[in-house]
Amino acid sequence: MSGAADPEAPATDTTDQEARATDFAGQGVVVTGGGRGIGAALARTFAAAGARVVVNDLDTEAAHAVARGCGGTAAPGDAASPEGLAALVGQARAALGEIDVWCANAGVAPVGGADAPAAAWASAWEVNVLAHVRAAELLLPRWLERGGGRFLATVSAAGLLTMLGSAPYAVTKHGALAFAEWLSATYRHRGVRVHALCPQGVRTDMLASTGAVGEALLAPTALDPEDVAEAALAGLREGRFLILPHPETAEYYRVRATEPDRWINGMNRLQQGLERSEAL
Ligand SMILES: NC(=O)c1ccc[n+]([C@@H]2O[C@H](COP(=O)([O-])OP(=O)(O)OC[C@H]3O[C@@H](n4cnc5c(N)ncnc54)[C@H](O)[C@@H]3O)[C@@H](O)[C@H]2O)c1
Repeated sequence: MSGAADPEAPATDTTDQEARATDFAGQGVVVTGGGRGIGAALARTFAAAGARVVVNDLDTEAAHAVARGCGGTAAPGDAASPEGLAALVGQARAALGEIDVWCANAGVAPVGGADAPAAAWASAWEVNVLAHVRAAELLLPRWLERGGGRFLATVSAAGLLTMLGSAPYAVTKHGALAFAEWLSATYRHRGVRVHALCPQGVRTDMLASTGAVGEALLAPTALDPEDVAEAALAGLREGRFLILPHPETAEYYRVRATEPDRWINGMNRLQQGLERSEAL
């Protein structure tokens, strides 16, 4: 079921002009998983653009260190569970008044295939997908009332393509992208702007944790988190749904959509190469 009546209908000029006019000075921004990596870079980049930032992370010290460094407010805790999110939204509203931008950035990257432990699948669903759904549930009533709000989902190129060696990651990142797309298609005319940030490799602790596979597949073209954060803010300013810090991702996505068998064959050749080199 696609339910797509007129997928080619263009966005109105007014919408695009509004998006281009985005200025983050004074805006209230929340970054989940902001204690390190891409989230820390997002927090610092928004703060440098004049935003008032709330930095969340499971790691209390890391959240405080980043908040201190960018003049923001730390709100440590779990940004995936219903209770944790309710507390975070409450703390953020107390600090910021309005939440203008929600960066659903916290993520986990368990490795493994169909035999990955049930706990790894559950944690990937909770943090990579349900955290976004639950945040949207809490944010939407106010955003619809005031006619605006921005949701930036840190997805991954794995959400558009796949990630060899990590079925829970690939599947849940597709879920995160699907939810972001649904949110945008449903609420765009009511002022809610949604963006899906889909980098390939980024030099963070998460990339390091993927070991030999990440080293072989992602490290050679990996970007620094600061470059990804700059690309994210540029994408928000331009009003783009898909933000691709590695521009070549667009071509891979096109081939996957238009020549799926060629795409799968290519990915399988990569898998065989990883098996030969014993990375997998
Ligand atoms: N590093 C990459 O190559 C890469 C590529 C594409 C997408 N991403 C995505 O970018 C996002 C950030 O990844 P990163 O590379 O900066 O990872 P990272 O591991 O360096 O940082 C992630 C942070 O999120 C926090 N976190 C995890 N679960 C949390 C929770 N439930 N509540 C609050 N905080 C939580 C961690 O404590 C950590 O500080 C993730 O969604 C990841 O999937 C990363």
